Amino acid sequence: MKIKYLIVLAILLVASALAFLIACEEEPPASSQPLTHCELCSTELEEEDSALFCPNAECIVTIIGLDIIDLPALKETFADYFDIGNIFNPGDVNAGGSAVTTNRLTHHYNVLTAENHMKPSYLSSSATSLNAGGLATADRMVNAALASGFKVVGHTLLWHSQIPSWQADLRTNSTTKETALTQMRNYITSVVTHFGDRIYAWDVLNEAFPDGGLTSDWKTSMRTGTQGNPWFMKIGHEFVYEGFRAARLANPNAILYYNDYNMNMLNKASLVRDMVQDVNNQWLSDPLYDGKLLIQAIGMQSHHNTGITPASIQAAINLFKPLGVTISISELDILSQSWGDYSAATAVTNTGRQNAANLYGQFFTVFLNNSDIIKRVTFWGLNDAQSWRARGEPLIFSGNKVKLSYYKIIQSLQAFTE
Ligand code: G3I
Repeated sequence: MKIKYLIVLAILLVASALAFLIACEEEPPASSQPLTHCELCSTELEEEDSALFCPNAECIVTIIGLDIIDLPALKETFADYFDIGNIFNPGDVNAGGSAVTTNRLTHHYNVLTAENHMKPSYLSSSATSLNAGGLATADRMVNAALASGFKVVGHTLLWHSQIPSWQADLRTNSTTKETALTQMRNYITSVVTHFGDRIYAWDVLNEAFPDGGLTSDWKTSMRTGTQGNPWFMKIGHEFVYEGFRAARLANPNAILYYNDYNMNMLNKASLVRDMVQDVNNQWLSDPLYDGKLLIQAIGMQSHHNTGITPASIQAAINLFKPLGVTISISELDILSQSWGDYSAATAVTNTGRQNAANLYGQFFTVFLNNSDIIKRVTFWGLNDAQSWRARGEPLIFSGNKVKLSYYKIIQSLQAFTE
């Protein structure tokens, strides 16, 4: 095992060196400041070698030359620990739905989540009918992913965002609670049944809790107002149990997730823990109880920034452990800057890029330390330009090129197996 990763690292270092030589010979950096500490190789270097690996700060953070298709596949590198996923869109699959055509996705990942095309606004046209066009696109994506050897996560059934008007209107209209409950069950049943066992895991409920104003009682702390969760606003907290129950009945094989962001904030994580505990307890006395947890898994989205600590992620995982659930890191990206700088649209700096790379390594150390319950790590985007937060450079690849973050992840695995 150890030899395997040493070989992988050796290949990476030799390839980087060659790439640097080529890149730097052609166009020497204008303000080259030789460094003696090489972050890439985590060691002190002679000045001669330092110039090779780290000719200037820019070269530390932007590893030029290496195409990610030539790197060892992440899904194979981490195969002993967890699946490695990413997101996909219609443009990533062929017209016939028989293959994923973005070969850098196929190379590195073994699980895909539709970035947008399985959300309610895409799949539903009215309370009584699904959207045939939306379903056709989602079918094409799912079929292509399966044909190319991926597993597929269904994202997402119940949400407050990207929903059709008939769901949004429930926040304020006079539809009765009973009718809304029937509509919710019907929506879940029809979508989950449609995809059947092609979907191995469903994000049943997404982001039910707001960013602020949380009480200590999950039953009264869910989103309300113009951006509220319509199901909570119309039905009350019992929509959670009823929603997961409908999903279980529609596909008893699918792994059912609660998925949310900022889970490293312990007040939010505590509410999630309480909700999962209560719902799973209630399931025990349901006549349809099948011996499995009703909420089997928690998705920690993990849209992070350079202000987030590895310890806070471990603390949230510790909160969830007693539930007996599994965990997936379901939407990972780390801004190359603080949340404040991103919000203010401040330009990313090399220091920020370096900090994000270091955090990628440290977070993967946490993931590896908890790989008994972490089953999947899904990145939310293939490369920076395709990210929903592109200007914050939050991913591990830039275009088709590798970033320092990738090496930090590999180094964390190497250290873990030593
Ligand atoms: O499809 C329309 C297009 O027709 C129109 O011209 C264009 C104009 O802005 O908008 C397009 O829709 C955009 C859609 O993505 C598809 O590209 C929406 O404006 C845009 O808001 C939407 O953003 C998505 C976002 O969810 C919506 O909340 C992001 O791509 C997607 O990455 C993001 O994913 C969410 C997860 O589902 C849940 N967790 C948070 C995560 C990040 O926000």
